[in-house]
Amino acid sequence: AGSGKFFVGGNWKCNGTKDSISKLVSELNSATLESDVDVVVAPPFVYIDQVKNSLSDRIEISAQNCWIGKGGAFTGEISVEQLKDLGCKWVILGHSERRHIIGEDDQFIGKKAAYALNQGVGVIACIGELLEEREAGKTFDVCFQQMKAYADAVPSWDNIVIAYEPVWAIGTGKVATPAQAQEVHVAIRDWLSKNVSAEVASKTRIIYGGSVNGGNCAELAKQEDIDGFLVGGASLKGPEFATIINSVT
Ligand code: G3P
Repeated sequence: AGSGKFFVGGNWKCNGTKDSISKLVSELNSATLESDVDVVVAPPFVYIDQVKNSLSDRIEISAQNCWIGKGGAFTGEISVEQLKDLGCKWVILGHSERRHIIGEDDQFIGKKAAYALNQGVGVIACIGELLEEREAGKTFDVCFQQMKAYADAVPSWDNIVIAYEPVWAIGTGKVATPAQAQEVHVAIRDWLSKNVSAEVASKTRIIYGGSVNGGNCAELAKQEDIDGFLVGGASLKGPEFATIINSVT
């Protein structure tokens, strides 16, 4: 860990019921968490209100997606204004599941990020390469292209956390090695320094996601340019998520 306050997000994805979420919230409320860590959880939209009303204020709430602009006649969408109304401080954008399963492209994601930031909602901006892209030696090209789409769209970097999530490591149990993650994180920081500014490069948190768990988090957290985690599966278990939060070094 190096830049800024350690940041750990729990992306609950499309999981949970009222009952299972109430159990997870009680586990989180009773966990002892290091004070020097920003902690955020992203429940499915339909449970955000339940979580906001029951979870300790120690933990902030994120959405997992948002509409690209102001609400209106957009069937099935959720606007940033509505997320703010529910108390969300963050939104996850550019997640690989939205890029590769739903088909969102760089420009669409960039516009969403700009809209959310202009509304005062922080963006957890995800990037990451597919296995075939890594194997073809294109990891940096892919990550830089995704970074450029954010950089071209956003009004400021003040409220952005970058989440590097190699797609081959998401939900597969195949975590990137600390060296593999560090190599990409430092390259992203270098990209920010050359293409945005040295100041943004040094203060922007770059967090890692992809099969992070209670057993592998400590080694990853020691890396100079890993400033936190975005956790999927292991964030559904309160005690294990607390272990990951407390891996801050
Ligand atoms: O956004 C977090 C994520 O994609 C990682 O998921 O289950 O591999 O921790 P998981």
